[in-house]
Amino acid sequence: MLEPTDLTARAIEALRTTFGAEATVVGRAPGRVNLIGEHTDYNAGLVLPVALPHATYAAAAPRTDGVIRITSGQEPEPFTGHIDELGPEIEGWAAYVAGVLWTLREAGLVTDGLDMHLESSVPLGAGLSSSASVECATAVAALGVAGRTLDEDLQRAVVAAGIRAETEVAKAPTGGMDQSVAVFAEAGGALLIDFDSGAHRNVPLALGERTILVTDTRVKHQLTDGGYASRRAQCEKAAADLGLRSLREATLDQVESLGDEVVRRRARHIVTEIARVEPTVSALGSGDWAAIGDLFAASHASMRDDFEISVPELDLAVATAVGAGADGARMTGGGFGGSIVSILPLDAVDSVSAAIDKAFAEAGYGAPGHLIASPSAGAMFTELPFDKLRTSPR
Ligand code: GLA
Repeated sequence: MLEPTDLTARAIEALRTTFGAEATVVGRAPGRVNLIGEHTDYNAGLVLPVALPHATYAAAAPRTDGVIRITSGQEPEPFTGHIDELGPEIEGWAAYVAGVLWTLREAGLVTDGLDMHLESSVPLGAGLSSSASVECATAVAALGVAGRTLDEDLQRAVVAAGIRAETEVAKAPTGGMDQSVAVFAEAGGALLIDFDSGAHRNVPLALGERTILVTDTRVKHQLTDGGYASRRAQCEKAAADLGLRSLREATLDQVESLGDEVVRRRARHIVTEIARVEPTVSALGSGDWAAIGDLFAASHASMRDDFEISVPELDLAVATAVGAGADGARMTGGGFGGSIVSILPLDAVDSVSAAIDKAFAEAGYGAPGHLIASPSAGAMFTELPFDKLRTSPR
């Protein structure tokens, strides 16, 4: 992973060479890995994600003419526009950056232009919320440039702006977990979020001799290609058929009474998955790794069989991780590709990673990627020292 200092320096330097602008602010927002509670966010359920040390960095400088110019180390095409002319029709990667500026302007929080350059260490298309990290890094940088203080109200505004950009501009009908953890995560903890009450709390992780390993199958996942939306629609149908506001209110007995076999299985995943989240918090707290193994196994089976969002590469990675000594492993994120998450003894990281590499090679799959998910902090911006301001002409 590229270090934060390298990415920050790279973003500041790119802003200088591309636009002749000196950054006054650098925003940072992390990707995430979800420990448990999958597809439960848009069902008013519980989730337990962790912010990754991998993050997006947005170096930004203010302008006074309303013009917006944005480049990214990960994207070839720059975005150019005007703050007063942004709208929901922004396309491509710019949906996640200019889209956020549009929603912040709609909220009255950003009123002028800026120059911005982004760099990221979050793997793309790996189910690790690279898009939410881009949205939230963009938002905090823009708010920093606008001279605002990131208090809790503004943090909520950043989450809301990211969700609006994702659902209304990028047209991915996602549920809000990714933006929430990208903003509210605390270093060293997971974030327990209740999407019914809107409450969230930090769950300190005392992993001791254990760690969190993420394995990217490199099967690219997309949240805009219909699979995610169809699951969401099936969940909404199940709740409507039961006469409930959401599946958060459903019991297993009610779900088993649903007539449509597919809708019944989808709803069963949601109800059983929500019920696994608090026991996972307890098991993490008491270091009951056998219970973590059982909870992760049940969660993965539920996503594979009832929700049908796994793929053979994810199943193989999970089975191999557990067979090679992980306490627990499951697919994580939206599904249809992407990553698995394992909890395992520190001294098993190399052997588990090697076992997955070997199993993938033998199955004829491309090589996977591995990273350690040391729980990091949510979005923030840093103002650069006054003596560094505008040392080169704009
Ligand atoms: C994606 C979405 C989230 C959530 C997960 C599945 O990451 O962006 O809102 O629904 O899938 O848990």
